[in-house]
Amino acid sequence: MKSLTLVLPLVAMSVLLSSCDNGGESTGGEPKTEPVKGAQSVSEAIFGQMPDGADAKIFTLANANGMEAKITEYGAILVSLTTPDKNGTLADVTHGYDTLEGWLTNTSYFGATVGRFGNRIADGKFTLDGKEYTLATNNDPGGIPCHLHGGIKGFDKVLWKGESFEGEGARGVNLTYVSPDGEEGYPGTLTTVVTYTLTDKNELIWEARATSDAPTVLNVVHHSYWNLSGDATTSINDHELTLYAEHYLPTDAGLIPTGQVASVAETPMDFRSAHVIGERVEAAFEALKLGAGYDHAWVLSGEKDGELNKAARLKDPETGRVMTISTNQPAIQFYGGNFLDGTVTGKGGVVYEHRTALCLETENYPDAPNNPEAPSAVLRAGETYYHKMVHAFSAE
Ligand code: GLA
Repeated sequence: MKSLTLVLPLVAMSVLLSSCDNGGESTGGEPKTEPVKGAQSVSEAIFGQMPDGADAKIFTLANANGMEAKITEYGAILVSLTTPDKNGTLADVTHGYDTLEGWLTNTSYFGATVGRFGNRIADGKFTLDGKEYTLATNNDPGGIPCHLHGGIKGFDKVLWKGESFEGEGARGVNLTYVSPDGEEGYPGTLTTVVTYTLTDKNELIWEARATSDAPTVLNVVHHSYWNLSGDATTSINDHELTLYAEHYLPTDAGLIPTGQVASVAETPMDFRSAHVIGERVEAAFEALKLGAGYDHAWVLSGEKDGELNKAARLKDPETGRVMTISTNQPAIQFYGGNFLDGTVTGKGGVVYEHRTALCLETENYPDAPNNPEAPSAVLRAGETYYHKMVHAFSAE
C-alpha cells in the first residue's frame, strides 16, 4: 500500500469569519483589484448558484507578496492564481471562467479537484476483493471507451463545503465532500477533505485526505491548467519543462498504460533536463502520436525535495515565472492541452486555443486498479488516503 499514508486528524484551525479586512478585495467573479502588498487576508463571498439554488462560495486567499488564489466550493476548483513575474507584475496563470456558470456548463476540468479516480480506468471496470465494479465510460480516446476523472458527475461537479482558516505565514480553505456509497459506481461512503493553502513563501499547497467506511479505490487529483506567461492567448509550447522522471508509462490507443515502464532515454519523453515543450512535441514517436502530443504519466524517480518527491519544474522564459511541483505521489501526468481547440471561451472572453495551457497532475498510475505493477489504489476502512502537492512560485 505504497500510496497510502496514515495522517493525524486535521489540526484545529481558527476560522476567520469573513471580515474582509483587505479593503481592495473583490468578491465573486468580479475583476480583481490589485491587492495591497503585505495585506495578507482570507475572505469569502458568493460565487453563484447551483441549479438547485444552493449558493457556491468563493474564497480569496492573499499572501504577503500580493499573490492571490481564488477557490470555489463548486468542484473544489482553483478559480484563479496570480503570481509575480521577474518585474513583480502579477498576473493570473490559470485557465478558467469568470463566473460559476462557465464551470457549470463546460467540462474541461479547469482548476478542478477530480475524483474519485482521477485519470482513466480501462473499460470503466475494476475488481476489488473478488467483486467486479462497473463505472461510467465517459471518454473514448482513439474510439476506445474508458472511465475518466470520476465519471459523469465526479468531484469536479459537486458542491463541497468550504471553511477558511489562518495559520502561521499561511491561509487557506478546507473543502469537504461526502460521496455516498455507490456514487458513480464506486463502493464505500467516502469522506474527502481538500485543503488549499497559500503561504507567504509563494507556495500553493493542495492536499487531499479521504476515509471510507468500506474498501474502495481512489486517486484524487488537482487539475489546474497553467500558462505562466499570464497571457492565455499564447502557446505553452514555448515553456521549458523539467520532469524528475527516468521512466514513463506507454499507453495503448485508448490512453491506458500497457503495463510497460519505459525509459525516457533517447526519446522525446526525456525531460530530465529542461526542454522547450514545442521542441519535440511533433516528433514521429509512437507515444506522441497516440496522445496527440504529450498526455502521459511519468514515474517519479524519487529525487527528494524535503520529504516529497520532486515532480516538475516549469518556466516561461519570457516573463521568467517558474513553478516547481513536489508531491508524495508516485507519478505525474503531463497533459499538453492537446484537446483545447478554440471552442471554449474563458476568462476575459479569451478563446482557449490549442496548447494554450498545460496540466501537471501528480497522482497514482492511470488505471492503477487494473495494473498489478502499480502502487495500490485501494483504501480500506480505518485508513486515511493522503495526497500532497506543493506548487512553489518564483521568477528569474
Ligand atoms: C487529463 C487527461 C487528458 C484529458 C484532460 C481533460 O489530463 O490526461 O487526456 O482528458 O484530462 O481534457
